[in-house]
Amino acid sequence: MHANHVPSEITRVLFTESQIQERLEEVAVEVDADYAGRDLLLVGVLKGATMVMADFARHIKSHVHMDWMAVSSYGSGTQSSGVVRILKDLDTDVAGRHVLVVEDIVDTGLTLSWLLANLGSRGAASVEVFSLLRKPDAIQVPVALRYVGFDIPSVFVVGYGLDYDERYRNLREICVLDARVYGG
Ligand code: PRP
Repeated sequence: MHANHVPSEITRVLFTESQIQERLEEVAVEVDADYAGRDLLLVGVLKGATMVMADFARHIKSHVHMDWMAVSSYGSGTQSSGVVRILKDLDTDVAGRHVLVVEDIVDTGLTLSWLLANLGSRGAASVEVFSLLRKPDAIQVPVALRYVGFDIPSVFVVGYGLDYDERYRNLREICVLDARVYGG
C-alpha cells in the first residue's frame, strides 16, 4: 500500500521507499565494517521491525544470523505504557554472541532500556542497537544507540512496519498519521 492509496489518513510522507533503502544501505556498510571478522546475530523486535530487518539484513554483505523477540510496550493507543512484556523469546542462546538489536523506532526508550538490560543479563559478548527511527524529544530513558537511521520529531508515524491499532504496517512509506484517525 502506498500513501496515495489512503490520502485522507496521512498528513505527510516523511520518508519514501528509496530514502529508506538508501539509508539502510549506508548503515549496512557501517555494520559490515564494524563487525568484520565477527559473527553477528541480528535480533529483530516484532512486529514493528519486520520490514527494517528484512531489508537491512539483505543490505549486509556478510553472513548474519537472525532471530526475533516480541515484546509489548504499547496497547492499542499511541502512548508508551512503560510496562514491557515478553510475548516471544529468542530461540538463540546469546551467551558469547555479538548481538545487534534491530528496532523500527525508539520513542520514550522504555522498551529498549528494558531489552538491553535483559539481553545483557544473558551474557552476550556485546549488545548494540540499530533503530531506523528515533524521536529525540520523546526520550524518557537514555539509551545508547550505535546506529540510527533518521531522527524525527514527536509526531505519530506509521508505515514500513509501524502500526496504529495494527493497521498501516504494509504502508510502503513512513508517514505522519492524520490525528483524525486516532481521535487526536
Ligand atoms: C514500538 C517499537 C518499539 C517501541 C518503542 O513497539 O517497535 O519496540 O514501541 O517505544 P518506546 O521507546 O516508547 O518504548 P510496539 O510496542 O508498538 O509493538 P509493535 O512493534 O508490535 O508495533
